[in-house]
Amino acid sequence: MIVSPSFLTADFMNLEAEIRSISFSQWLHFDVMDGRFVPAYTYNQEIVRMAKSISRQYFDVHLMIEEPEKAVAAYAEAGADLITFHLEAAADPGVLIRQIKGMDVACGISIKPGTAVEELLPWIDQVDLVLVMSVEPGKGGQAFLNNALDRIRFLADYRKANGLKYWIEVDGGINRTTIAGVKEAGADVVVAGSFIFSRTDRKAAIMELENA
Ligand code: DX5
Ligand code: ZN
Repeated sequence: MIVSPSFLTADFMNLEAEIRSISFSQWLHFDVMDGRFVPAYTYNQEIVRMAKSISRQYFDVHLMIEEPEKAVAAYAEAGADLITFHLEAAADPGVLIRQIKGMDVACGISIKPGTAVEELLPWIDQVDLVLVMSVEPGKGGQAFLNNALDRIRFLADYRKANGLKYWIEVDGGINRTTIAGVKEAGADVVVAGSFIFSRTDRKAAIMELENA
């Protein structure tokens, strides 16, 4: 299982040390919030640019923002390897997917828990990744929503039945209890924030999820 640690619940007064403390994982998850698509506001592409100077990980940028088409170029230029936008926020998902991939950046599409997974189908063969939210986006430390498991299964079955290759990533409430069901349902990548940042030994926490 690929683990993409989210530093949303990290100590932002010591962000460099916090990011270094999760350098063990292959991926690094950036939770970008604009205070409009979700109530919280976090940071912009400058954090991606600064993190690039201390990390060689795969930069997995999760845009929880309105009008993502206006922001993707800045994140690509700052060093994103993958940019995931929300279906609910995109004016024209097809145009946005081409815009992201045209900048040689991998493209992900995400749905909130209340969005039907079938709404992804018109674009699912064009993206590199589908991000299933297993919590309501906007903050860390929430409980895993079990309806995510059926959505993961649907996406894994659909991928196999149609010979597609997108990654399935799951984000929210991932811990030592929920990881087994998510893996069994067919996820390839899990985002984990509070499970990792609640522990002093972050490497052990990451390894626990990687080897689940
Ligand atoms: C929530 C973010 C998630 C969150 C995960 O809007 O997209 O990435 O940080 O945090 P935990 O693992 O604490 O649920
Ligand atoms: Zn996220």
